Amino acid sequence: MGDYVIFTNEPKNVQAVLVTKFKDFEIGQRRRDNSAELLGIGVFNADGQTWEHGRALVRPNFTRKQVADLGLFEKHVQRLFEALPKDGTAVDIQEWTLDTGTDVLFSESSDVLLPSATEVARKFAWAFNRGIDGIAQRIRLGRFARFYYDPQYTAACKFVHDYVDEIVAKAVYRAKEWHAEKKDKPVPPDDAEEERYTFLNALAREGVEPKQIRDQILNILVAARDTSACLMSAAVFELARRPEYQVQLRREIAEKLSGRQPTFEDLKDLTFLNHFVKETLRMYPPVPLNARVAKNDTVLPRGGGSDGMAPIFVPRGQLVVYQVYSMHRREDLWGSDAHIFRPQRWETTRPTFEYLPFNAGPRICPGQQFALVETSYVLVRLLQEYSNIEARGNSAPWREHLTLTCSVGQGVWVSLVK
Ligand code: HEM
Repeated sequence: MGDYVIFTNEPKNVQAVLVTKFKDFEIGQRRRDNSAELLGIGVFNADGQTWEHGRALVRPNFTRKQVADLGLFEKHVQRLFEALPKDGTAVDIQEWTLDTGTDVLFSESSDVLLPSATEVARKFAWAFNRGIDGIAQRIRLGRFARFYYDPQYTAACKFVHDYVDEIVAKAVYRAKEWHAEKKDKPVPPDDAEEERYTFLNALAREGVEPKQIRDQILNILVAARDTSACLMSAAVFELARRPEYQVQLRREIAEKLSGRQPTFEDLKDLTFLNHFVKETLRMYPPVPLNARVAKNDTVLPRGGGSDGMAPIFVPRGQLVVYQVYSMHRREDLWGSDAHIFRPQRWETTRPTFEYLPFNAGPRICPGQQFALVETSYVLVRLLQEYSNIEARGNSAPWREHLTLTCSVGQGVWVSLVK
C-alpha cells in the first residue's frame, strides 16, 4: 500500500529491535490510530509513560500466587465440558478464553459458554470479534486506513464500550466503598486472607478515570483472548491428528496424576506436555508477525551489504516488521525438519532469539505464564475427560487465518469420545 517496509526474520535483528536497541523503537502512532476506536489507549498500543504506567499496574495480575490459582480454570473447564457438543455441533474455543479472560480481568465472567448466556453477553462476544476484525482491516490498509469506514464496526465498538462501562462503573462504586471501609478499619494482620488482585479493581482504587480504565482493560483483553484461543486450538488440532502423541500424553498424565486434577506443580512436571505446547507455539505462533517504528536514525545488525550480513541503516520513522512465523520455520536455524511438528526436538533444543512466541525485552508478554498454565490445564483435563480426540471433516493440511493473531483457517473439527 505504498509503504516502504523493512521485513526481517533474523534473530539478531529481532533482538536489537526488542532488547538491545529497545530505546530506538516504539509501537508508533499508526498502531494507536488503527486500534483507538475500539481500545482507546492502553498497555497494548501505548508508548512512553502511558505504557510504563499500564505495565506496572498489570504486573501484579500475574504473580505466581494468582497464576497458580487453578480453581478458576476448573470452573470454566467444567462449563466447557458441558458446552462441548454431544451431537456434532460446533463450539468456539474463543468463547472459553473470553469467559476466563473477563473473569480474571473484570472479576466478572462474560459467561458466553453457559447455556443460559444472556443475549447481551453473546452480543458482546460478537462485537469484540467484529472490533478486532476492524483493527486488522485497518492495519492491512496501511497508510489508507484513515479512509476505512464501516458502520457495523463503529456500532460494534460502541456496544463493547457500553458493556465494559457498566462493569467499570460497578468497580468504581466498589472502590469508593473500599476506601471508606479502609479508613474505619485497623490494618489487617500480615497472614490475613488476601483477596484476588484484579487489574480492574486496582485501577478503580487508584482513582483512574473510568474511560481510561475501560481502555486499559480492553487493551489487555485483546492481548489475552485470541492469543490463548489460537494456542489452544492449534494444540487440539495437532492432538486430534496425532494419535501417537495422544497416547504419550495420556501415559504421562496417568503416571504423574493417577486420575486427579493437576496442581500448578504437576503442570510444570509434565515434560512431554510442556514440549508439546512449546512445539505448538513454534509451528503456530499466535502472533506471527509484529512491527515497530524507528524513533530515531539507527542501525540493525543484519540486512546490509551484498550478502545481507552487514549492518543496515534504519532511518527515523521507518516501519520494521519482524516475522516470527517464518523465523520459527527456518531450516538453517531449526534443522531440515523445521516444517514438521515434532515435540521431541525440545529434549535438546535451547533456542534464544530464534524462538519468540511471547516477544522479548521490556515489552515481553506479561501473560506468558498465565497462558501456558491455562493451556496445559485445559489439555490435561480434556485428555482426562475424553478417551479419544479424533479429527473430523477436513483433513487438509493446516491453513492460516490471519487477523491480529493467526488461527487455524479451517477450524478445529474434532469428535470427542468419553
Ligand atoms: C498463547 C498466548 C499468548 C501469546 C502467544 C502472547 C503473545 C504476546 C506477544 C507476542 C506480545 C507482544 C506484542 C507487542 O509488543 O506488539 C504480547 C503482549 C502482551 N500480552 Fe500476551 N500473549 C499471550 C497471552 C496473553 C495473556 C493470557 C495475557 C493477559 C491475561 C496477555 C497480556 C499481554 C499484554 C498486556 C501485552 C502487552 C505488553 C506490553 O506491551 O508491555 N497475553 N503478548
